[in-house]
Amino acid sequence: MLFQNLFNIDFNNCLLNASGCCCSNLSDLTDLDNSESGGIVSKTCSIDCLEGNTAHQYFNTNLGAINSMGLPNLGHKFYIDKIGSFSKPYIVSVAANYLYDSFEILDYITDNHNDNVVMVEINVSCPVFECHQQLGYDFNKLNSFLFILSIYLKKKPNNIIIGLKLPPYLYPTQFNMLKNVVDKHIGFIRFLTTINSGGNGLVIDYKTETTVIKPNNGLCGIGGQCVKPIALANIWQLYRLFGDQIVIIGCGGISNGIDAFEHILCGASLCQVGNTLNKEGGVCFERIIRELKNVMREKGYYHISDFQGKLKTL
Ligand code: DHB
Repeated sequence: MLFQNLFNIDFNNCLLNASGCCCSNLSDLTDLDNSESGGIVSKTCSIDCLEGNTAHQYFNTNLGAINSMGLPNLGHKFYIDKIGSFSKPYIVSVAANYLYDSFEILDYITDNHNDNVVMVEINVSCPVFECHQQLGYDFNKLNSFLFILSIYLKKKPNNIIIGLKLPPYLYPTQFNMLKNVVDKHIGFIRFLTTINSGGNGLVIDYKTETTVIKPNNGLCGIGGQCVKPIALANIWQLYRLFGDQIVIIGCGGISNGIDAFEHILCGASLCQVGNTLNKEGGVCFERIIRELKNVMREKGYYHISDFQGKLKTL
């Protein structure tokens, strides 16, 4: 019922973890492999191992969570060396803050996994490097980055399927600018994951009159239930712009089967679960799958394609 075949890869169901949630080390990744998720996404990796922020870096609220993790990860080789070792599709998430780092990471994939089909989610919405604007919001730089990367990859034999993890867009002009860029790279960009956490959130403890997050003066990324309307709007708009050429992966605010149904109705082919996975652990997948199947059964839908992208407007 929830089976998806994308890029000739079989996903037993349409649910994945969101990068950053329960996917940083071998024990996390093994737990995901043993869960009912349809696939695994790695923690976004940088060239070298990073410790990240170690105190007061994540806080759960009733409406979602805020975080300023600082990209704690074991370095690109750890995540790339895991390719081929799981029982389900595995997507490597790669930070895209420095062009040459991206070359080096993709080189490591082509040098070591020439025969495997490898999905790479390039994170152009990584908020960690404060020295420059996220690529996903800097459309000229994004275009140059993709242009250079595509030329680079064309020169090396590889089976890499490239996608981008995008930040939330809030204005029509941003979608227009994104379209201008992505249109130039159709064929190279095969999937778009939307949305990463929203930037610049602030949660405070009124009793102590302090921020609840320590790094970055308490300013942090927002995810979970409270971002679902923004996630749905981004999925739907990207689906309408690119849906016949590029696979859309939804992310943001999925805590139950109805949320996943709504993501798919807006056009998502796969759905990533973040905050709920952090809260409940891998058992959440079994529940969300059961709930999504129930919604579909009630509505008389048998396959995802029966309702994917078929949102009606009033
Ligand atoms: C981190 C947060 C993100 O939203 C992201 O895309 C990558 C890394 C982090 O703080 O670790």
